[in-house]
Amino acid sequence: MQNIKQNISLKPYNTFGMNVKATRFLTINSAKELQTLISTEKGPYFILGGGSNMLLTQDVAALVLKNEIKERKIIRDFKHSVYVAAGGGEDWHQFVLWCIKNGLGGIENLSLIPGTLGAAPIQNIGAYGVELKDVFHALEAVNLKTGKLEQFKKEDCQFAYRESVFKRKLKGKYFITRVILKLSKSPKVNVSYGAIKNTLAEMKVKTPTIKEVSKAVIKIRSSKLPDPAKIGNSGSFFKNPELSAGAFKKLQKAYPQIPNYPLPDGRVKVPAGWLIEQAGWKGKRIGDAGCHAKQALVLVNHKNAKGKDILKLSEKIQASVKKKFGVALSREVNVF
Ligand code: EPU
Repeated sequence: MQNIKQNISLKPYNTFGMNVKATRFLTINSAKELQTLISTEKGPYFILGGGSNMLLTQDVAALVLKNEIKERKIIRDFKHSVYVAAGGGEDWHQFVLWCIKNGLGGIENLSLIPGTLGAAPIQNIGAYGVELKDVFHALEAVNLKTGKLEQFKKEDCQFAYRESVFKRKLKGKYFITRVILKLSKSPKVNVSYGAIKNTLAEMKVKTPTIKEVSKAVIKIRSSKLPDPAKIGNSGSFFKNPELSAGAFKKLQKAYPQIPNYPLPDGRVKVPAGWLIEQAGWKGKRIGDAGCHAKQALVLVNHKNAKGKDILKLSEKIQASVKKKFGVALSREVNVF
């Protein structure tokens, strides 16, 4: 293929700003283009979306496929709902704004999440009481081995908290070309999350529209989460641990003030950010690898940290949270 670039830096393509090299690099603009490539070019392939949920610790000796597939289209229109198709390479936040402009509700709470449409299902993105799976209908993806375009329904994706089959069994095996969401034309807003309620009150909004909820979310996120254009990061570095009822009770006895969210199955989710802050890491840095001063769950690249430096810091944090609370933190970000 003529357009394949050789030996390029991936720095502009990952939000941590890691300056690693890719042996080969190609942008993909359609499912067809990818299918042609698979029939002529051997892997290994490395799929790249917005690069907003990955920590690159080494050069990538593979053909990097950057998803640039664009599409935004209402494919079925009912009285109260619509099915919208979006290309895997669409920017998530720009798509959210487009939906809001068209009066389509359901993803306004997910405003300002970095990344692409194609990456959104992989980790079932979520924020402020809403997850992608709540509006997800289906997706189309090219099987990188056979070149076939396959459809995945919601149940095929095995969505869970920041999880899907694409992060587990099918990791790296499919390139997501198109995502179909079911959105509402008469949306009911979800303002159950305390921070949203408070921000809307500050904004003096009593009966919020989807646009106002989006504005509130943007306000909250911008106040706590570092802008990757200014300081390298990948959002939450760890997942919030889900503890058994017994384990949580023990922990609560020792730390009565621990924030917690009981889950329907009896387990209890606790905020990793709180555990990390209590363990003394908030705002700390080792060289240029840091723990964000306003949200301890976010690790940041102050300037020249290498992927390995961030990884080392993350392991130190994991060890100290384990020592203090007996809780194992697992990563949310993909490390390569
Ligand atoms: N907290 C602290 N110190 C901190 C951070 C958090 O004590 O430094 C405690 C506070 O008690 C706070 C609670 O943690 O009330 C929850 O904090 P926050 O609302 O900021 O949410 P989070 O649980 O830290 C999760 C998601 C975020 C998402 C927010 C809002 C995960 C791994 N992270 O963070 O998602 O934006 O909720 O819904 O579930 C991401 O995945 O990259 C991401 C940013």
